[in-house]
Amino acid sequence: KRRILARTDLNIPLSADGSPASFARIDALLPLLQQTKNHTLLLCSHFGRPQQTHNKEKLSLKPLIPFLEQRWQRNIIFLGDCQNPQALTPEILASLNESHSGRNSIGLFENLRFHKGEEQNDPAFAASLQAHADLYVNDAFSVCHRAHASTSAITNLLPSYAGPSLKHELETLLPLLATTEHRHIAQQQSIAILGGAKVSTKINLLQSLVHRCSAVCLGGAMANCFLAARGTLPATAFEEKELQTARSLEKQFQEHKQTCLLLLPVDGACTPEQGKTGANKTGANKTAANQDGANQGEDSQEGEVLPRTEVRLNAQLEGSTALIGDIGSESCRAIEKLLDKAAHGTRVLVNGPVGIVERPPFDVATLRLLRYLAAKTERGLLRTIAGGGDTLAALERAGIQRKFSHLSLGGGAFLELLSGETLPALEALRHNKRR
Ligand code: 3PG
Repeated sequence: KRRILARTDLNIPLSADGSPASFARIDALLPLLQQTKNHTLLLCSHFGRPQQTHNKEKLSLKPLIPFLEQRWQRNIIFLGDCQNPQALTPEILASLNESHSGRNSIGLFENLRFHKGEEQNDPAFAASLQAHADLYVNDAFSVCHRAHASTSAITNLLPSYAGPSLKHELETLLPLLATTEHRHIAQQQSIAILGGAKVSTKINLLQSLVHRCSAVCLGGAMANCFLAARGTLPATAFEEKELQTARSLEKQFQEHKQTCLLLLPVDGACTPEQGKTGANKTGANKTAANQDGANQGEDSQEGEVLPRTEVRLNAQLEGSTALIGDIGSESCRAIEKLLDKAAHGTRVLVNGPVGIVERPPFDVATLRLLRYLAAKTERGLLRTIAGGGDTLAALERAGIQRKFSHLSLGGGAFLELLSGETLPALEALRHNKRR
């Protein structure tokens, strides 16, 4: 039996009772477990950022074991500190090669980031990992943007391979990087629907997608910033730097308008206060609220009931204090029309909610669009790819996460890859010891 060291990402969000709030990263490792079942599998991962935390002990991987065992139907043997040369005694090895109560066994090392050497990409720390294994598998797409000892330096010491979950992410995401010309030849088309809080976190992504997508639809607070930069919404809520970034990005979209359409909201939902003191007062045209099944009357995060009022965004809004909390029904319809016209098999990338999704009724447009995309995916018309914690949580809330073609496990790694950046752990795999 060969000893396989697998870098996984067990950095999972936990609920208040300490149980995993999402099983996505755990379930994604099932193909790896299946493919390595005739070998000795040793898992390693980080959990949180212990070097920046006082209560390091809280970041042990040990408490996760019962959940992993239940989900994987495997027996897990905790191996402790990977720097301990005695972590794999002959007895432990024998135990790893036996099944317990009919379940195969797997080894799990303690949180790698308990050692500074991990994040420092220290070759000596990588050597302590290498000492336990014959070969290395990286099955953690979501940490591939980190050049750490367990993702980078280790590949100089062991024959190194990409695991099934990592390969699947790359096979799904890399076609999105095809540039407009290449896409034309391959008859592939991509549309992006992006939201989220700040333009600044998505500059590189937008700069990349303008060359790769036939349309980019913007929502969320990001859209507010673009609209403020145009003068449609009040600029006072934004820093000058952000407005300048939005202006420069819009210029790039203008330069590529023959190949990539930038779609900004034409209407939106404001809170009653915003409506009173801002948009409505300054002449925004009120549209029929709730006409698309808005969940009016649902409790807001603070427990207060907020009615949903939609306003049309036009030049008259200038000078008001209103910002939109969600894109409106007309804006949703414009995106849906675009999706209806898209060729069969078009890839649709969704990253970031188009409204304040955690605060009903500003979740209406996000849920509506996700449901629309899910239905089209089910009918085989679109290939839908979602990434980012808030988007995945919204899909889960709507109970439609399985209806999307692909849910990326990566946060930062997803954004960096689609921004056209080189991910250090992928480079390391390319130049690994096998060569
Ligand atoms: C993630 O959750 O995105 C990955 O586990 C990476 O975590 P990090 O940002 O702490 O490196």
